[in-house]
Amino acid sequence: MKETILKTFAEVFGDAEGAKAYFAPGRVNLIGEHTDYNGGHVFPCALTIGTYGVARKRNDNKLRFYSMNFEHLGVIESSLEDLVPSKEANWTNYPKGVIWAFGEKGMKVTSGMDLLLNGNIPNGSGLSSSASVEVLTGYILRDFFGFDVTNQDLALIGQFSENKYNKVNCGIMDQFAIAMGKKENAIFLDTATLEYEYAPIHLENAKIVIACSNKKRGLGDSKYNERRSECETALAELQQVVKIKTLGDLDEETFEKFKAIIKSDVRRKRAKHAVYENQRTILAVEALKNNDVKLFGELMNASHVSLRDDYEVTGIELDTLVEEAWKVDGVIGSRMTGAGFGGCTVSIVKDEAIDTFIEQVGKAYKEKIGYAADFYVVEIGDGPQTL
Ligand code: GLA
Repeated sequence: MKETILKTFAEVFGDAEGAKAYFAPGRVNLIGEHTDYNGGHVFPCALTIGTYGVARKRNDNKLRFYSMNFEHLGVIESSLEDLVPSKEANWTNYPKGVIWAFGEKGMKVTSGMDLLLNGNIPNGSGLSSSASVEVLTGYILRDFFGFDVTNQDLALIGQFSENKYNKVNCGIMDQFAIAMGKKENAIFLDTATLEYEYAPIHLENAKIVIACSNKKRGLGDSKYNERRSECETALAELQQVVKIKTLGDLDEETFEKFKAIIKSDVRRKRAKHAVYENQRTILAVEALKNNDVKLFGELMNASHVSLRDDYEVTGIELDTLVEEAWKVDGVIGSRMTGAGFGGCTVSIVKDEAIDTFIEQVGKAYKEKIGYAADFYVVEIGDGPQTL
């Protein structure tokens, strides 16, 4: 890959002298969905697939971007004086947002760059291709300008850029999982405190399989922001009767005791998901520590049911993938992953069942939905790196 991207960089930008190659992973969340903006726990891991990049510092203020995933867009030019989001900037709003965010945090980027990207995460699939680009850009800027920031800071800056520059009100999970990724480990993160712990994933005779629905998120971002505000309102209602900072502070019992104060059925369901999903995540990590993969899988399944019925972020595509997966012998657990409304599912599948899984789920999906899903058997990889 390194040779290919350096070669393409030379073709696009004249030569590759002084250019360096980098990588940042994508991520998959194993459990703990829509909990990261509710002060709950998440359990994601970085993948060995992600975004490859080649970058070179310039002597002027120009920014030149090229993506091998969007070749038809050609080189998109901009400058350090033009750090304003726009439709024409297309995907370059992500790296530009990060350059802007560094400036906002008092770390001014003083010269331009040429940047080429080539990602092998399916775009818009819920495996965080955008957070991967954000963390990669931050990593490159730190390398070029010597900014005094940790990988955790890179995650926070990436999230800040996404919230304030790209106007998606995402939580910290994606950028954190990517910036702090560790081979063969998932990250048990408390999003209320940013305390975290690595948990080794030793799936004996089983693998993580991702099924991509190929349904683009579409309205997903606005629905995402809507779920967030429903939870915020529910929290404010609960705060009238119980002393909590976030929904993550509640256990199931306390929630059941006080839930009647939430005035709408819809908001009560949303809050229920946030509370129960957080408790499920804590339990799931404990199960894994006890080598109880079976229980881990059951909790994954329960997570999907809650996202389908209470949080209502699945849709026929993700439900079909998961419900068909549950029918296959050797599937330990299966659920949607990421924001939902399209994107991917994550399943833990016994080695001997993987071929059948892909065939059976793939066939049923195509029959019902009308187009094919894609399947990836993935491995857990490290965070951002220089190649
Ligand atoms: C998206 C967001 C994350 C998180 C998930 C849902 O991936 O970027 O912050 O909220 O959705 O768990």
